[in-house]
Amino acid sequence: MTQDSTDSTIPKIVSKIAPKIALIGADGQVGQELQHRLQSLGEVYPFNRQSLDLSQPETLAEKLLPLAPTVIVNAAAYTAVDKAESEPELAHTINAIAPEALAKIAHTLDAQLIHISTDYVFDGTSGAPYQPTDPTSPVSVYGCSKLAGEQAIQSHCGRYWILRTAWVYGVYGKGSFVKTMLRLGADRPVLKVVADQIGTPTWAQSIAEAISDLIDTLSPEAKAAPTGIYHFTNSGAASWYDFAIAIFEEAQALGIPLQVEHVLPITTADYPTPAQRPHYSVLSSQTLVPFLAAPPLHWRAALRLMLKDLFHKKSAL
Ligand SMILES: NC(=O)c1ccc[n+]([C@@H]2O[C@H](COP(=O)([O-])OP(=O)(O)OC[C@H]3O[C@@H](n4cnc5c(N)ncnc54)[C@H](OP(=O)(O)O)[C@@H]3O)[C@@H](O)[C@H]2O)c1
Repeated sequence: MTQDSTDSTIPKIVSKIAPKIALIGADGQVGQELQHRLQSLGEVYPFNRQSLDLSQPETLAEKLLPLAPTVIVNAAAYTAVDKAESEPELAHTINAIAPEALAKIAHTLDAQLIHISTDYVFDGTSGAPYQPTDPTSPVSVYGCSKLAGEQAIQSHCGRYWILRTAWVYGVYGKGSFVKTMLRLGADRPVLKVVADQIGTPTWAQSIAEAISDLIDTLSPEAKAAPTGIYHFTNSGAASWYDFAIAIFEEAQALGIPLQVEHVLPITTADYPTPAQRPHYSVLSSQTLVPFLAAPPLHWRAALRLMLKDLFHKKSAL
């Protein structure tokens, strides 16, 4: 007896096709977390500044088209918010022209483009967490360049997922607020920290997990997150001052020796910087949550886990 392929008694086997992922910005805070996290989903091809320079957008196609990734994740950006005020052209090239080139490449390959953006596309005048559909109005060169990148992606490819996040810190990379506070708190008894900017500190590992969940939904058998703009941060809200206090409390609980005795709240006006920053940039992750394996961790819980990881890695060296 021959078997009919339409026989409904035969169990249907849906094979999951592993994505081929080009990861751009693989050496950054989020990029390094993504390198670890995305391995379980498919083949990952990491690119750093040396292997793919976004300041030369015209070179991107010749490197990416032959690879023919099915997913392009862009975690690279010009992220020096203050320096961008004096280097607007370079910031625009890396944050807007290069994403436009990536969008065109994704379109040519019919690949999915996942791109990270920022809370700094908003001006901070809202009194409630920003939704992805809220009007944008950046107040810095960096924010303008990131918004231009979002708009270029929306114009040049149909399969994009833009994830805006905020106040990123992580075990990898240099110069995050957490590492700066730990360095200053190790030898200064008094620190002054801005208390009138409110946002959500977000662990790079949480962002990598969210992106991994998002890619997982794009596989044929899952309920795909529709293309568009999403927000993802850890939950809750804090000022930089609240964040600094939490860093020192959590570090002390882990037995990290610190000299800092007083953290004093100051205003933005007391600490002038070249770039203006929004006073309030809490993002609502609500539209992304249905596509995540778990709701976002509270920022304080994420901070505790990151510090444990950081000091575990340090003591292992
Ligand atoms: N950091 C934050 O607080 C924050 C807040 C909101 C949104 N975001 C967004 O989150 C994403 C990830 O940020 P992150 O915190 O992981 O930043 P990051 O640690 O500064 O990483 C950015 C990466 O981009 C790379 N890069 C810079 N210029 C490049 C170029 N010309 N060509 C190729 N690569 C280049 C950097 O390379 P090198 O390692 O060689 O420098 C770095 O590895 C970015 O889109 C950023 O805009 C960040």
